[in-house]
Amino acid sequence: MPDASPRGLLALRGLLAGEIRGYLRRAVELESMEASACARLLAGRHVATLFFEDSTRTRTSFAIAAQRLGAHVVDLSVATSSVNKGETLVDTARNVEAMGVGALVVRARQSGSAALIAGALRVPVINAGDGRHEHPTQGLLDALTIARAHGRGDFDLSGLSVAYVGDLASSRVARSGIAALTTLGARIVGVGPPALAPDSIRALGCEVSRDLDAVIPGVDAVVMLRIQFERHDAGGGAPDTRKAAAIASVREYRTLYGLDASRASRLKPGAVVLHPGPINRGIEIDSDVADGPRSLILRQVSNGVLVRMAVLERWMR
Ligand code: NCD
Repeated sequence: MPDASPRGLLALRGLLAGEIRGYLRRAVELESMEASACARLLAGRHVATLFFEDSTRTRTSFAIAAQRLGAHVVDLSVATSSVNKGETLVDTARNVEAMGVGALVVRARQSGSAALIAGALRVPVINAGDGRHEHPTQGLLDALTIARAHGRGDFDLSGLSVAYVGDLASSRVARSGIAALTTLGARIVGVGPPALAPDSIRALGCEVSRDLDAVIPGVDAVVMLRIQFERHDAGGGAPDTRKAAAIASVREYRTLYGLDASRASRLKPGAVVLHPGPINRGIEIDSDVADGPRSLILRQVSNGVLVRMAVLERWMR
């Protein structure tokens, strides 16, 4: 049953600052709410997680968020789903909807698939990452983490500068993060070689730089991204060929764009380091930085549960 206005959280691009702040404010409220009160909010409801692409962190985070709100979680992993038998994404989602779930959390390889599914369903769909398009709850958790680190309890990020470093071209994390952070008033610079941070990403509302060393001293937060080799050649090809197409060599990439202790020491006092995970230690970020005092990587994970609670509550109540 196609619906003219799909329900759910599909993207952050296009949301108003007030809507983004609403999620973040609620995430903070839910954090200090008593566990038993929280567990009444969605008691007896069902949330289905439908992941057509690998994930550990995001799927677990949504499951914990739903459980803290009192909902039951039905997890449909790719290996057990009928997608392997040729059933389409939409058919699978319709079947899950027909079983009476209150929301579907969807991750898929194709950009736009969350919107496609939402358009065919009545229940709300939460996009947990669709191809290179968006990963809205990651954008919200990054905004929450940066706002809290800089004492912006009102979620007004004016005057803050944030660098996204690395594979912006493939990154739904960067797309959603840039949408949220610019809407809240921050200035964003995308940093990387032309193959990973092409000039066309300016259309997202950010600046572009090829020079991480020049950018480092001027930013309040730096978000390091994994090189997503698996997205560089949708048509397949040997991993080495793909690597060669994206960057000249991993060693050269690390020298120019990796965040090591020496680069991190040139950050402003108070500047923080984020990474959505999974981390490639020794490539885009060194262990002493990832585990160091400026790193908010685990804080991001904790904040992720809170924003996902806020999102599920907003769409299921
Ligand atoms: C990211 C993703 O899947 O888009 N990770 C995540 O959600 N924790 C980033 C990545 O895969 O590099």
